[in-house]
Amino acid sequence: MGESAGAKRPKAAKPGPGVDPVAILSAMTATPPVSSSSTHLAAARRTLALPTPPKIGVRIAGTGSQLPSRVVSNADIATIVDTNDEWIHQRTGIRERRVCDPTKGESNRWLCAESLRKALADAKMQATELDLIICGTITQDMRCPSTACLVAGDLKAGTAAAWDLGAACSSFVYALNTAHDLIRMGNYRAIGVIGCDTVSVLVDYTNRGVCILFGDGAGAAVLRATDDQTKGCIAQINHADGSSWPDLYMPGEDWMIPEGADRSTHKSGCLQMNGKAVFKFAVSTFQELIQQTLDKAGLSAGEVDLYVCHQSNMRILEAARDKFGIPEHKLLTNIERVGNTSAGSVPLLLDEIARQGKIKEGMKVMFVAFGAGLTWSSSLWQV
Ligand SMILES: CC(C)(COP(=O)(O)OP(=O)(O)OC[C@H]1O[C@@H](n2cnc3c(N)ncnc32)[C@H](O)[C@@H]1OP(=O)(O)O)[C@@H](O)C(=O)NCCC(=O)NCCS
Repeated sequence: MGESAGAKRPKAAKPGPGVDPVAILSAMTATPPVSSSSTHLAAARRTLALPTPPKIGVRIAGTGSQLPSRVVSNADIATIVDTNDEWIHQRTGIRERRVCDPTKGESNRWLCAESLRKALADAKMQATELDLIICGTITQDMRCPSTACLVAGDLKAGTAAAWDLGAACSSFVYALNTAHDLIRMGNYRAIGVIGCDTVSVLVDYTNRGVCILFGDGAGAAVLRATDDQTKGCIAQINHADGSSWPDLYMPGEDWMIPEGADRSTHKSGCLQMNGKAVFKFAVSTFQELIQQTLDKAGLSAGEVDLYVCHQSNMRILEAARDKFGIPEHKLLTNIERVGNTSAGSVPLLLDEIARQGKIKEGMKVMFVAFGAGLTWSSSLWQV
């Protein structure tokens, strides 16, 4: 293209990950002298004019979590529905879960605020240093304003932007990916990410297929920009299959119950779940999600140091461990003590693991979740 005859151009470095545009320019300008109207420089300038992503690393600066005070054991559930501790533990891995006690001021908003307060303390930061708060939840106390705004007010976060993100049990991992990318793009420096659900408000405690599973809880992480570009998300996946929503949903009113559903067993305001369908979806999706994320990062399962997975059912987690040969100490669980806390699940476990000192700098940590929607999401980090 307009190159003077005979002028051989040295091969420029092939653009790709880690190649600096300045290096490309140097290679291009190192050509033998050509006419002043050389297009090499122009081409190089065009190369430089292309928007290049800012080189910003993202680190998890702090974590926090909060559980309600009230413990609901399998024995407690067995006083309400026809079930027993052995059946629940064998089929789900759960022994007990926590449920908010409103008489003690416990609520979704309280769980969210406390978990973020602790994450900020862990990060040694003030709430006013946050540019944004994202709260992953589907069980807001109030429909308006968002829980994130309530938390921003409670924590005196000044004018930090605030919004809720609703992807059910996948909410936190969706929010983590969103917050990460916003920082990576240079628009935000510090973001508080919360995952919280108080599913107890949606549970029909006469439905033994559902009430055994869920508990309330929250966790949070503070993400910060860093000059260390090795830190941050290496690979992420976010998906949804909206056509499968009737497998797990909460009809606000009777008219929302889908055609073909057994209306005699549906209660508006209560969570409806096709346990078998969700189980099947979860086992296969969980494994595909892990594999796809590894493929995207070019890593093998053994190269990941920790898997922080949604605590939905112990059998689903064990199936993933078996499939990838992941040792127990790399895929830790707390489902026995807290049940399925939906959006709270992943950040709650993350905080527990972090406080046990099990997350070391430079480790590769994969977050994995799936839930109603149906939704599924992963986030693989170098921390
Ligand atoms: C809900 C779940 C634990 C039920 O376990 P399951 O092994 O599929 O049990 P089934 O529904 O097949 O029921 C098996 C039998 O146990 C009975 N049963 C169901 N719930 C019971 C309970 N709580 N206690 C005792 N028996 C129960 C059923 O009535 C059935 O009896 P039958 O064979 O006489 O008809 C399981 O399907 C599950 O975990 N699904 C995924 C849910 C999930 O992860 N949801 C959240 C996604 S984020």
